[in-house]
Amino acid sequence: MSENQPNPDTSVINNSIPQPVVNQDVGQGRGVFISTYGCQMNVNDTERMYSLLEMSNFAIVETPEEASLIIINACSIREKPVHKVYSEVGRYQKLKNKNPDLKIGVGGCVGQQEKEKLIKNQPIIDFVFGTDNIDQLPNLVSQTFAGEKKVVNAKFEHKSPYHIETLVRNPGVSTFVNITKGCDNFCSFCVVPFTRGREKSRPLNHVLMDVRTLVKRGVKEITLLGQNVNSYESEDGSDFADLLKKVATDTDVQRIRYTTSHPKDFNEKLMHVMAEHQNKICEYVHLPVQSGNSRILDRMNRNYTREEYLAKIALMKKYIPNLVLSTDIIVGFPGETEEEFQDTCSIVEEVGYETMFAFMYSPRPFTKAASFEGQIAEEVKNRRLNHLFEVQEKMSFELVKKYENQTLQVLVEQINEQGKAQGRSTQNKLVYFLGSESLIGKTVPVKITKAMPNVLRGELVQ
Ligand code: SAH
Ligand code: SF4
Ligand code: F3S
Repeated sequence: MSENQPNPDTSVINNSIPQPVVNQDVGQGRGVFISTYGCQMNVNDTERMYSLLEMSNFAIVETPEEASLIIINACSIREKPVHKVYSEVGRYQKLKNKNPDLKIGVGGCVGQQEKEKLIKNQPIIDFVFGTDNIDQLPNLVSQTFAGEKKVVNAKFEHKSPYHIETLVRNPGVSTFVNITKGCDNFCSFCVVPFTRGREKSRPLNHVLMDVRTLVKRGVKEITLLGQNVNSYESEDGSDFADLLKKVATDTDVQRIRYTTSHPKDFNEKLMHVMAEHQNKICEYVHLPVQSGNSRILDRMNRNYTREEYLAKIALMKKYIPNLVLSTDIIVGFPGETEEEFQDTCSIVEEVGYETMFAFMYSPRPFTKAASFEGQIAEEVKNRRLNHLFEVQEKMSFELVKKYENQTLQVLVEQINEQGKAQGRSTQNKLVYFLGSESLIGKTVPVKITKAMPNVLRGELVQ
């Protein structure tokens, strides 16, 4: 711990953050398997579900065949998510024939979106729950095993504050900590405000307590997580920059990352905090631009123009000269012309993103853009997406060459199947090199010998 800071005792932490109610008799040693789709939120939610179910005496198993409880934690961000759930559930029919005690549940953003419709259309589903109902999972499962048919719990808990303790079974070297949930931005293409509800922030001291507990358990790097972390606002009025500063100064975590940032909320105060604490806060930012054209950005309800986005990037680079950026892009948004698409290609080159996640626009339920005129044909979207990937790939090969012969600080996470040590640099680059298990959890200097867009290879500097 740093010197001027109280040494928190875990029991005190547990008393101050309300604990979810677990029902220890429910599981009776039965196996549980969770199938997860979607973003890091869903991955984290699965971890929470496993923790709660383990506390309720379920045993976590590796395959659906071994399970008496299967949960599909589904994502709804793009393309036929409900269809995917039905086809996965269909595959479990045989298992259910063999084991009538098998229960199947659907959660995540699809559970929230579809509610009882899922059970109506696919009666072998036993229960459905929403994104705000994870802590009630042991009770829901208990009702299901008690023979209650077709339980649905997918109500948003709009009124209750976001008071949780991070639950992670084996946190490892690097782990995620939720700081906000939900989203109030209503980008016209996006289903998340409807599947995750209104935005809420965790109290700042709860986040700090969580980080300290995780550090005690061996965590070296944390990623603060939310749909839009930089609109974080604690009950005491602290904003995201304040939180980031506190995590850097008041905990012993070695590295801090965060995701995702919204460009409209990325302010100079945050840049200042990043610059001031570069020893801990990584110089990597994921800043989704979505489109490089201001008319499209306006129709997307993103609340910034191309020029404002570029001005912000320029300012960020002044504060953090070695800043590395990644982005999300949507191609074929309704009404996007060929010229407007070219603006997206040019912004990708102008900013110089080392990594890009790009998607074809997909109409989503409840969203404004789904009913916009000028929906783009699939083959046009496909062509634009391929072209954009070509532009970015060519550029990122060039961009990452700068890493060759550089020595990067790598936090070693594991030894992979090929026997290579594997970790990440502060720039969020995956690095492989020859090294032993004793390096796991250590930050070591690695000289890069070969740089490719997604991985770097190197040698340990002795
Ligand atoms: N909160 C994050 C985004 C979460 S969704 C943010 O605002 O940046 C992750 C990405 O999925 C988005 O950035 C967007 O690029 C993509 N996406 C969201 N809705 C989409 C849709 N309807 N069609 C295609 N891509 C979409
Ligand atoms: Fe979706 Fe926009 Fe919210 Fe991101 S900021 S989750 S894209 S509505
Ligand atoms: Fe998918 Fe929900 Fe995440 S829609 S991307 S799992 S917030």
